[in-house]
Amino acid sequence: MRLDLVDITKSFPGVLANDRVSLNVSSGEVLALIGENGAGKSTLMNVLYGMYRPDSGEIRIDGQPTTFQSAADAIAAGIGMVHQHFMLVPVFSVAENVVLGVEPTGALGSLDIAKARQMVKEVSDKYHLDLDPDALIENLPVGIQQRVEIVKVLLRDAKVVVFDEPTAVLTPSEILEFFEIVKSLVDAGKGVVFITHKLKEALHIADRIAVLRRGTVVGETTPTQADENKIAEMMVGRPVQLVVSKNSAQPGEEVLSVSDLTVLDPDGRTVVDDISFAVRRGEIVGIAGVQGNGQTELVETLTGLRAANNGSVRLGGDDITVASPRLRHEMGMAHIPEDRQRQGLVVGMSIAQNLVLTRYHSPEFSNGVSMDWGKVHDVSEELVKNYDVRTNDVDNLASTLSGGNQQKVIVARELSRDLRLAVASQPTRGVDVGSIEYIHSQIVKERDAGTAVLIVSTELDEVMALSDRILVMYRGKIVAEVDPKKTSAMDIGLYMAGSKPQGVAS
Ligand SMILES: Nc1ncnc2c1ncn2[C@@H]1O[C@H](COP(=O)(O)OP(=O)(O)OP(=O)(O)O)[C@@H](O)[C@H]1O
Ligand SMILES: [Mg+2]
Repeated sequence: MRLDLVDITKSFPGVLANDRVSLNVSSGEVLALIGENGAGKSTLMNVLYGMYRPDSGEIRIDGQPTTFQSAADAIAAGIGMVHQHFMLVPVFSVAENVVLGVEPTGALGSLDIAKARQMVKEVSDKYHLDLDPDALIENLPVGIQQRVEIVKVLLRDAKVVVFDEPTAVLTPSEILEFFEIVKSLVDAGKGVVFITHKLKEALHIADRIAVLRRGTVVGETTPTQADENKIAEMMVGRPVQLVVSKNSAQPGEEVLSVSDLTVLDPDGRTVVDDISFAVRRGEIVGIAGVQGNGQTELVETLTGLRAANNGSVRLGGDDITVASPRLRHEMGMAHIPEDRQRQGLVVGMSIAQNLVLTRYHSPEFSNGVSMDWGKVHDVSEELVKNYDVRTNDVDNLASTLSGGNQQKVIVARELSRDLRLAVASQPTRGVDVGSIEYIHSQIVKERDAGTAVLIVSTELDEVMALSDRILVMYRGKIVAEVDPKKTSAMDIGLYMAGSKPQGVAS
């Protein structure tokens, strides 16, 4: 099958999201689609998937013009989509989720679960997905949930499969497994469209790489013709500094002091296990680790969203172990949360309101009786400009921003006030290379202004590039402290997996 998007144009009020975009993808190849936040990638794929009607332009399948009124039409035409935010029912089993909407029914019209199980098993075996049809979704790690989405698409007989930032939520080993799955899809004759912000991934897996900028295709290249620097420049329109530039840290007194901290999950399992560490003024400490080793719970405890079961947390000498998130915030703690839609933003409020969300009650914006909306507007305009948030109006709803631009709003809000401590979880998840460069430079600037910075990221490259010291977390404990200038990614990876580099005494 050959799929052509021809001169697709799609606008939203005030935004030309796709401007005469033409692309094609055929059976047996991987097309990587990359571009800045807000460049129009997701919009284009939603047009292809029948979710949006294009204003003009055409979709052709094997040369035949086609129109889709809905996703059902696109699915019937052989197009499958794995969205970034999965659409699974947590309390249903794998088999039940996979057949939602295409239920094989038994004699009396009831769901034939045996048939569903068998269907899952067949597809799972064929593509080496290793899925248990009876497992409950809520008990599965994200990487496995993604495979369930893939099975859904395959059972609906997709010939072209679109993945919108599939690796953003995966751990490094899950990413390698994902690439194996993509290879088996291609071997089975599927065409794959792969959206990513990680240029290394595009170079690794794609046959062709198409680059979008501000709604138009600015070029196409291949992994043999291009490298990371070249693609970054195509995307952003200028050379991008892919490595963080910073001087050595000048650490001062302890700002965050964590002593013997233990946290249990609701089932009574120990998720943070007797941890002690400190972050000093003027240094960036990174926490490396495979997702699910207690980092999320640690951050939630440090920021007041979860209670500690034992031990203490101090900020500048004051015990804040039981302080509310708001008090911690007022004491100069910033928090960039890992889940931007659940914890970072109120998507039903405007961009400007989100930018001042944590300080609207301060004298800067309020005289105690009424809000100074003019001031809110001015401050927002400036933040949007500095952080290159792509929007034509700060009064638009936050929900109209593309994923990466939502992330930039949170970072802009959290870093734009006087801080003592910044706790940043996955600060650049879903953010394009140009904006990563900016966010990283802002984090280094915070450090140099005397803020203590704690970065938690499952991107080892990011932790290594930013941190002055790295702590590795494994099964709730800190198992190593390393100097990123003197330690290889390989060795840190070994600690992350619970083992030790050769030559290190156990
Ligand atoms: N429903 C909507 N209403 C208004 N504007 C929208 C809507 N959806 C997208 N946009 C705008 O269209 C443009 C393209 O957004 P899109 O989500 O396609 O970007 P993207 O390339 O996928 O970015 P990212 O890498 O951040 O996911 C952006 O300016 C965005 O704000
Ligand atoms: Mg997108």
